[in-house]
Amino acid sequence: MIITIASFKGGVGKTTTAIHLCQYFATRRPKRRVVLADGDPNRTVLDWAESSPFDLPFTVADASEDLPAYEILVVDTPARTDPDELADLIENSTLLLIPTKVDIFDVRATLALADILRPHPDKYRILLTELPRGKRLLKAALELFKEKELEAFGSGIQHFTVYRDAAYEGVPVGRYSETGKRAMQDYEEIGSQIIKGWKDA
Ligand SMILES: Nc1ncnc2c1ncn2[C@@H]1O[C@H](COP(=O)(O)OP(=O)(O)OP(=O)(O)O)[C@@H](O)[C@H]1O
Ligand SMILES: [Mg+2]
Repeated sequence: MIITIASFKGGVGKTTTAIHLCQYFATRRPKRRVVLADGDPNRTVLDWAESSPFDLPFTVADASEDLPAYEILVVDTPARTDPDELADLIENSTLLLIPTKVDIFDVRATLALADILRPHPDKYRILLTELPRGKRLLKAALELFKEKELEAFGSGIQHFTVYRDAAYEGVPVGRYSETGKRAMQDYEEIGSQIIKGWKDA
């Protein structure tokens, strides 16, 4: 399975999502070969993994080089995907994951791609990130996606400052603190929906 993570704005949680989904896939079934391919010329994931004090349960590789064997490959991409590349990404992935901050300007940037995404309902999902506590904004954003017949996960990723703290230490949040374990539950929920077949999500 190839999961590509892309967005149309920078800083929406692509790399954070790539790391924590890999952490979930690899710890849920330890023998499963999970590879995180860093496709960002900034080498964000490669540098992060190098700074990590732990042996990570997944392999981090450079997407521009030959990749090791995998059962699940997660590809992190650079800050902004050109909408023209979208069709190719969908074609070449099992699932295109599109993290989108719940802020209305970010939501609208994703809505603008509805015509390209809509014909492929089984091959992409929008994931709302940096959600405030409470369901109000989540519901409002999901309503807008529904109006445009866009497919989004019904739950999202809440805002927790522990993501920034843990990233400094090169540690997935669930291994950083008790709050980190709570934050990780959001990715566990999304990861389990992906494993079950996101089509029913
Ligand atoms: N749910 C969250 N709550 C709080 N902070 C978060 C959350 N997700 C990500 N962050 C923080 O937001 C910043 C941007 O996240 P990240 O680097 O994952 O985004 P990105 O989409 O990969 O960015 P870029 O487009 O530059 O590659 C990081 O400092 C990260 O720790
Ligand atoms: Mg990134």
